[in-house]
Amino acid sequence: MSKQRLQGKVAIVTGGATGIGAEAVRIFVENGASVVIADIKDELGHSLATSFGSEKVSYRHCDVRDENEVEETVAFTVEKYSSLDILFSNAGIAGPYSSLLDLDLNEFDNTMAINVRGVAATIKHAARVMVAKKIRGSIICTASVASSVGGSAGHEYTVSKHGVLGLVRSACGEFGAYGIRVNSVSPYALASPLTCDALDWGPAEVDAAQHGSANLEGITLKANHIAEAALFLASDESLYISGHNLVVDGGFTAVNRWLPRIQK
Ligand SMILES: NC(=O)c1ccc[n+]([C@@H]2O[C@H](COP(=O)([O-])OP(=O)(O)OC[C@H]3O[C@@H](n4cnc5c(N)ncnc54)[C@H](O)[C@@H]3O)[C@@H](O)[C@H]2O)c1
Repeated sequence: MSKQRLQGKVAIVTGGATGIGAEAVRIFVENGASVVIADIKDELGHSLATSFGSEKVSYRHCDVRDENEVEETVAFTVEKYSSLDILFSNAGIAGPYSSLLDLDLNEFDNTMAINVRGVAATIKHAARVMVAKKIRGSIICTASVASSVGGSAGHEYTVSKHGVLGLVRSACGEFGAYGIRVNSVSPYALASPLTCDALDWGPAEVDAAQHGSANLEGITLKANHIAEAALFLASDESLYISGHNLVVDGGFTAVNRWLPRIQK
């Protein structure tokens, strides 16, 4: 497929300093977009932005828990690049993995503040610009396999990612009237800093655990696979797709192999 699928478009990628977000930044830029990386890891974000050696990529400190910072990041983007066509609302944390019996409600609130409230804040301010400027934009949120099934992640993470899916469907309902599409990508587990830090494992250990429970054999899920799915949803190739949750999980959430297991 030819490159430049986002020629002339302007994107914000939250959580763009590392992992899936950083891959999305790279792939969006390769495809012709101007990109604002919005993150709290300032050193990594700045160095990623400057690595492109182009005015087309900028870094902004933006804690998605802080609505003012979200609003300022959107305003900065529109001022510098004169548009906002794509929001990839991707910032998120794993949150702790503990029994519900020991649930730390402060941790619960923090996970919700980043993974749900933060996504809502970014959609609110990006969509305000798209509506006001009559931009038929594309909003993509990073959900998870934990948006569809329980038991694959911590409790607050699972709740928060179900919330992301709810937001996507709800926002899709409102913004369809303006020609704005709202979708999500839902990754299966991959060895990004989020997973490695949460489990205190190295990438090789995460990859091995992923293979142990994956459905699709012979391939290891990487951040670029998710970024390619986000690119599809950002581009005009998905012009009539809205309210869709694009799972990138090798079939993990589609199958339950109970029969082959008991037949062995
Ligand atoms: N890695 C996985 O296995 C996996 C699976 C399913 C879904 N996801 C989701 O993918 C998204 C990206 O995660 P990743 O795996 O690339 O992890 P990551 O830790 O590499 O990236 C997350 C980014 O979000 C940023 N971030 C965290 N809190 C923030 C805040 N308050 N404001 C702004 N930025 C903030 C971090 O600094 C980091 O750069 C997350 O929403 C995560 O829940 C990841």
